[in-house]
Amino acid sequence: PEGVPIPHPPEKLFTKNLKEMDPNFAVSSFWRLADIYGPIFSLNLIKRKVIVISDYQLINEVCDDNLYEKLVTGVQENIRPLTKNGLFTSYSDEEEWGIAHRTLVPVFGPMHVRKMFPQMTDILSQMVFRWDRFGPDHRISTMDDFTRLAFDVIGLCAFNYRFNAFYSQDLIPFAKQLGQVLIETGLRTTRLPIENELHFRDKKLMMENIAAMHKLCDEIVAERKANPRPDVDDLLNVMLFAKDPVTRKGFTDENIRYQMVTFLVAGHDTSAGTMMFLLYNLLQHPEALQKCYAEVDAVLGDKPLELEDIPKLKYIDASMREALRYLGPIPAMTRHTKKTRLLGGKYRVTPDVVIACNFKGLHHDPKIWGPDCDEFRPERWLNGGAEKQPPNAWKPFGTGVRACIGRYLAEQEIVIAMAMIFQHFIVEQADPDYKLTDQKTEVKSTLTINPDHFDIKVRRRPGKE
Ligand code: HEM
Repeated sequence: PEGVPIPHPPEKLFTKNLKEMDPNFAVSSFWRLADIYGPIFSLNLIKRKVIVISDYQLINEVCDDNLYEKLVTGVQENIRPLTKNGLFTSYSDEEEWGIAHRTLVPVFGPMHVRKMFPQMTDILSQMVFRWDRFGPDHRISTMDDFTRLAFDVIGLCAFNYRFNAFYSQDLIPFAKQLGQVLIETGLRTTRLPIENELHFRDKKLMMENIAAMHKLCDEIVAERKANPRPDVDDLLNVMLFAKDPVTRKGFTDENIRYQMVTFLVAGHDTSAGTMMFLLYNLLQHPEALQKCYAEVDAVLGDKPLELEDIPKLKYIDASMREALRYLGPIPAMTRHTKKTRLLGGKYRVTPDVVIACNFKGLHHDPKIWGPDCDEFRPERWLNGGAEKQPPNAWKPFGTGVRACIGRYLAEQEIVIAMAMIFQHFIVEQADPDYKLTDQKTEVKSTLTINPDHFDIKVRRRPGKE
């Protein structure tokens, strides 16, 4: 098929469109260019051609797993030295993906995640205790504490391992190592190949950090093998003993390591970033925040949160969905067509082209979300509102077979976190004027995005001492 031309910015002689990309905040370049060129435009990034799509109609089409599939490219491809054929960075045709997917989907499902409730509240109690002890004048970096929370929850729920991040003044070594690796991989994605060659010292540091993270995971596995824990119902035991129903194969030790790092990579920044965006949006919308307090008071009062309370926290759940719509931690996904075809009935796409789905465009498409699409309004998810959206309108967890495996874990963790925070504390922004107006300076970007330097202060609610 021929197709009609796709709009694109003019190309430079040597760098083509590479310098259109902000090296520190790649997706902001998609937002900027979408404002200029509309819901579809292409970029020549030398190593690859990218088509960026930014509305419901086009993204819905590309979500069809029969015609299109996930493409591991860019930052994801650059973190493969760390996560190799773990679920997140597996290429579509890698056998390990299927083995891990079929074996792990059931244990990441809602029924199994419910069993993680005691571990989640254990870690959250540590956070509440810490905030309480530091007192009302202490600036809490939401980035640091939600990262601590996310690491500890995955460590404990997935491998029965305690990072004890709330007992450490600095970020735990694993978090530091991972942070450095993600920054370097992000930068490598936007540099010219020759520039990357010149950054050999950064590459060396990156490989050392990766080796340290692998070592920790290997040690956790070795410890479990030396001291089996048949009494523990965690993902590590599943990976050590389960057999894939289709191939009858189990996990290799090497692949277990990559899955462990993958859970930590894919699960920490994303959960932490979602909690940051959610809290930020609630603090910016006092009426919504008050509804969260009222809900927590009605459902919990002074009694400790129980598993049965979670489905009753409907407004908090709606606020989480709305925060993920408004601007979530993963701002895009990359796919490609399995065969050459016409996208939207007129734009020719070939399998070698990266199709980047810009979630900001999708989640703010007025045709789907209405004239108030740019407002933060949790109410749109209540009273059957969630069911009103057409398929593929809300994609913060990705799509199809390659959608997020940790979704239920993350959702449960976030709702519990907000309930426990609001039950105990009055929360305020440390800087009352802090606003995410200039996305470029305030949204920090590595593999994911989150509000940069978003600090809060908390004080005990009166009568809740
Ligand atoms: C995949 C978002 C939490 C593990 C994904 C994808 C998205 C996403 C958008 C698809 C990526 C793509 O298409 O390239 C989120 C968000 C989270 C979250 C917004 C928090 C609110 C978690 C947690 C874990 C996790 C807690 C693990 C414990 C994974 C894995 C994949 C994935 C393993 C790859 C699945 C596959 O390709 O088979 N996530 N995630 N995520 N996520 Fe999450």
